[in-house]
Amino acid sequence: MKRIILLSTSIALASCASFINTHRMHAAQTKLQAARKLQQGGQWDAALEMAERMHSSVAKSIETAPTHKGPGGILVDIRPLLTGWETGPFASLKSALQKHDSHSATSAFASLRQQCMNCHAVIGKADIKLQEIP
Ligand code: HEC
Repeated sequence: MKRIILLSTSIALASCASFINTHRMHAAQTKLQAARKLQQGGQWDAALEMAERMHSSVAKSIETAPTHKGPGGILVDIRPLLTGWETGPFASLKSALQKHDSHSATSAFASLRQQCMNCHAVIGKADIKLQEIP
C-alpha cells in the first residue's frame, strides 16, 4: 500500500514538473513577444527587463528538467544548449537593447527565436510553433 502511494506521488510530481515546464515555456513565448513590442515602442529599459524575465522562464524550465529524450529515445542534456543560447543570441539581444539599437535588436530577436527552435529540434520537438517576431 505504501509503495502504491509512493508511486502515485512520484507520478503526480513528474507530471507536475512537466506542467510547470510547459507553462514556463509558454510564458517565455509571451515575454519574448512583449519584449519585442516594448522595444518597437521605444521603451528600451522595459524591453530589457522583459527580456530578462523571458530568459528566466527559459532557464528555470530547463533547470527543473535538464534532460530530455531526443529522437531515437536517447537522453539529451540540454544545459549546454541553454548556455549556447544565453551566450549567443540572448547576449546579443541584451546588448542591442542596452545600446537602443533598433537594427541590431531586430536581428537579435530573430536569431534568438531561431535558437529557441533549434533546442526544440534537438529533442525532437521541431513541431513546437513559435510566433513570428513582428
Ligand atoms: C535549451 C533548450 C530550450 C530552449 C533554448 C528553449 N526551449 Fe522551449 N522547450 C524546451 C523543452 C525541453 C520543451 C518541452 C518541455 C516539456 O515538454 O516538458 C520546450 C517547450 C516549449 C514550448 C511548448 C510548450 C508546450 O505546450 O508543450 C514552447 C511554446 C516553447 N518551448 C517556447 C520557447 C521559447 C519562446 C524559447 C526562446 C525564448 C524557448 N522555448 C527556448 C527547451 C528549450
